[in-house]
Amino acid sequence: MSLSTYPVDQLTPDQAAEELACLANLIAHHDYLYHQLATPEISDADYDALVLRNRAIEARFPDLRRSDSPSLRVGAAPAAGFKKVRHHKPMLSLDNAFSPEDVTDFLNRIRRFLQLPEDQAVEMMAEPKIDGLSASLHYQDGRFVLGATRGDGSEGEDITHNLRTVKDVPLILQGEHIPQSLEIRGEVYMRRDDFLSLNKARTAAGEPEFANPRNAAAGSVRQLDPKITAKRPLHFFAYAYHALPGDRKDQTQGDILESLNRWGFSVTRLRQICQNEDEVMTFYHQLESIRADLDYDIDGVVYKVNNLEWQNRLGAVGRTPRHSIAHKFAAEKAETIVEDILIQVGRTGVLTPVAILKPVTVGGVVVQRATLHNEDEIARKDVRIGDHIEIQRAGDVIPQVLRVFPEKRLPASRPFVFPGSCPVCGSAAVRTEGEVARRCTDGLVCPAQAVERLKHFVSRQAFDIEGLGEKHIETFYQEKLIRTPADIFTLETRDRQSLTPLRNTEGWGEQSTRNLFQAIDQRRTISLDRFIYALGIPQVGAVTAKLLARHYRSLTTLTQQMTQAQDQNSEAWKELLALEGIGANMASDLVGFFRQPHNIEIMEALSALLTIPDFIVEATISSPLSGKTIVFTGSLPTLSRAEAKAHAERRGAKVTGSVTSKTDYVVVGKDAGSKAKAARELGITILSENEFVALMGKP
Ligand code: IVH
Repeated sequence: MSLSTYPVDQLTPDQAAEELACLANLIAHHDYLYHQLATPEISDADYDALVLRNRAIEARFPDLRRSDSPSLRVGAAPAAGFKKVRHHKPMLSLDNAFSPEDVTDFLNRIRRFLQLPEDQAVEMMAEPKIDGLSASLHYQDGRFVLGATRGDGSEGEDITHNLRTVKDVPLILQGEHIPQSLEIRGEVYMRRDDFLSLNKARTAAGEPEFANPRNAAAGSVRQLDPKITAKRPLHFFAYAYHALPGDRKDQTQGDILESLNRWGFSVTRLRQICQNEDEVMTFYHQLESIRADLDYDIDGVVYKVNNLEWQNRLGAVGRTPRHSIAHKFAAEKAETIVEDILIQVGRTGVLTPVAILKPVTVGGVVVQRATLHNEDEIARKDVRIGDHIEIQRAGDVIPQVLRVFPEKRLPASRPFVFPGSCPVCGSAAVRTEGEVARRCTDGLVCPAQAVERLKHFVSRQAFDIEGLGEKHIETFYQEKLIRTPADIFTLETRDRQSLTPLRNTEGWGEQSTRNLFQAIDQRRTISLDRFIYALGIPQVGAVTAKLLARHYRSLTTLTQQMTQAQDQNSEAWKELLALEGIGANMASDLVGFFRQPHNIEIMEALSALLTIPDFIVEATISSPLSGKTIVFTGSLPTLSRAEAKAHAERRGAKVTGSVTSKTDYVVVGKDAGSKAKAARELGITILSENEFVALMGKP
């Protein structure tokens, strides 16, 4: 049966189900013709009739509503909250290039990694970098089943209901060769004119304006009520997809964009294949010149190695792929006045000066503060309160002060005097020889530092406790409810015995208190890398934390090794320095952190309250190399060092830079020196590249 004019109230459930299936397909087909091809085959009135019939049948048989129903486009079933979704493949982010030199380096790195001759072209696909937020869409048998935000890259939030309301997210895919299980990646964004009208409407309704189209898009996608999202004019550009091996016919990024387009997605038309750096730069300047005339914001150009097999070989370093880079447009500048200079105290006690500015719009965003970095920087630029200055804002980064206009300065103006004491606790603030930072000397007692450390502890890449944000940390600290990280996990027990329990305090109730305790409970088991990151060790960001977790695998081992590494003649110190990405400076900060009894106390208190499972290194390919420690030395005949290392790591091996008794294999190439010798002396298995490749197995 196909569509009928049969009265809805006379349909049997079977007929209704069949007709709803038919309507879903038909409406998806006309959506595609209208939105993607701009060649509608039926009149708007006929289209509306289909939508109305679908709605009428669903109204009579609510249980038969399909998950791909066109009526969900208007927003249905308010979500209770956002469920977490683990990404099958991590959602990476791009490295940035800011200059032509950065682009040259990028292309050379690729050539070196793939060991291509210098004159061989590396074909690139150049696409605009859309300034929105990335999303992942899952299709099963061509039907939209799940949509998620990027989140921290490993885990995002389920925003299926909201994405269904986005017109250029197809609910049912069109065309042929659609992989059975398909994940689409792309960018959700809002057009500039839509953003301006939305802000106008919000001002009229007494609601706060969004700072820029991207924030407006992000706010809309994270709406709990999809009915509101449905009213927000969101758009989606697809730029990548993943399918099961064998289910992807495409050979290049260009093919990918064409497939996506055939299936019904909007893909950028502003794309170009480039054969060399000159072509890449020409395209960059072309896009830069039309940037202001586009309907939507772009903040750069993304270059991607066009050949997918090469992309695959290139893989990723940490959270960024080697095969792509975002070449950012120059930052936008503006002039304003310094109204004040405040001193902030960070979690490590560093005093950071911040300029409070007369609000000014730069690149569509209202800027009210700019960082002044440190006292030398203020002195160098001679920034004073009352000065006219030029500022610049690039992407997400905090606005910077470029220069002052001394000619506009008042005669009474005086140079800024940097304080010699901590503005929060009053202790002396000193500079160590050779350091630019001035630090508060009262590490343990200074409330500013304690609060900043706690904020870091609960931040998104650390413990990420829902409902325990920066403001709560500040209040809990003042009320003496949370003074150390461990206090977070004893809060509920103490609250039960308290005469002034949280649920009776202003701003809290039964439900919100219960939610908070639940959110805390959910984090009593925490991954080792998050835990290390949360400690707030100077210079140790999320990437280094993961590196340490991956290498030492348990908190006990890490603590033991860092304690032994206090001695710079120890094996432990050498091992730490041998880790790629850890230099002497960072290593000193690390062992310095483990030298402080106070830090050890914090870790011990937390260990007693938490479960921190050993870090599992997910080998993406199983092989005899899994769990082995490998050292590469000398130049290998065919593989570049980077590619060899990537191969080993994908198979769960640990690659280090120096040979110790814990090394399992040393892969030796031409002109290998002391490491090969050390391996022979320690009786460690030595492999040639061929033997290493054989051990790796396929692919
Ligand atoms: S490819 C490794 N292509 O830029 C991620 N990204 O950090 C692959 N973006 O999170 C991204 N336009 O949200 C790619 N044409 C484009 C893009 C694009 C915007 C975003 C994306 C990503 C961020 C880079």
